[in-house]
Amino acid sequence: MKQKMKQKTKQNLNQTPSLEMINVTKNFGADHTLVKALKGIHFKIFPGEFAAIVGPSGSGKSTFLTIAGTLQQPTDGQVLLVGEDVTKFPEKNRAALRLKKIGFILQGTNLVPFLNVKDQFRFIDQLEKRSFQAEKLDQLMKDLDTSDLLEKMPRDLSGGERQRIAIAKALYNDPELILADEPTAALDTVHAFEVVKRLADEAHRQNKATIMVTHDVRMTEFCDVVYTMEDGLLSQK
Ligand SMILES: Nc1ncnc2c1ncn2[C@@H]1O[C@H](COP(=O)(O)OP(=O)(O)OP(=O)(O)O)[C@@H](O)[C@H]1O
Ligand SMILES: [Mg+2]
Repeated sequence: MKQKMKQKTKQNLNQTPSLEMINVTKNFGADHTLVKALKGIHFKIFPGEFAAIVGPSGSGKSTFLTIAGTLQQPTDGQVLLVGEDVTKFPEKNRAALRLKKIGFILQGTNLVPFLNVKDQFRFIDQLEKRSFQAEKLDQLMKDLDTSDLLEKMPRDLSGGERQRIAIAKALYNDPELILADEPTAALDTVHAFEVVKRLADEAHRQNKATIMVTHDVRMTEFCDVVYTMEDGLLSQK
């Protein structure tokens, strides 16, 4: 028995982080317009972990998430996704990686304006060259309280409904890494708690790594670890 326990601990220790950042910096502009948005970030998150990042406006939270999700390149340092250094990947490869491995919930939603809710998901299936995942969608819609919105166009949804559909879209593809930038900003308290619980569930039960930026400290109670971003530097609370 003891032997078994030991083995398990060892396995955990040897687990590859879903995301690792090594001394990541990001500068915008130059000379008198230079902004040092990230000043040397070291970060690791493992499968099954739900991390929150809090911090003042302009401190670098969104910059951190977009670099984690390969939407932007760092000025310096390395970004490893499931052990693979993606820092020098060409854009074409990074786009394929994003589709397969990352679920984004960004500030402002990521819905295609000319597709109804159901077709937003069919579109993902087309990109992935697979058939429609009706059961998966059905479950997500139930979890996020959006089942009656399937035929609606994005312009006919409220801000909070749009946000919940965007969250369902991020989870639909079974990503390794979920990156959420203020996912509850447009939601009432009840839906906000439901959404964060759903994200916690996805991390803990499906063994995903999830990073959520939030201004709402009440939401951090569901997180395993809370970081603070201040002036481009990350520290654990
Ligand atoms: N594309 C850009 N060009 C120039 N400066 C930028 C760019 N993107 C971000 N910045 C600057 O980098 C800093 C960090 O911005 P970031 O968006 O990461 O902040 P944040 O912590 O997400 O803030 P908020 O809570 O308001 O969303 C800010 O000073 C911002 O003005
Ligand atoms: Mg931001």
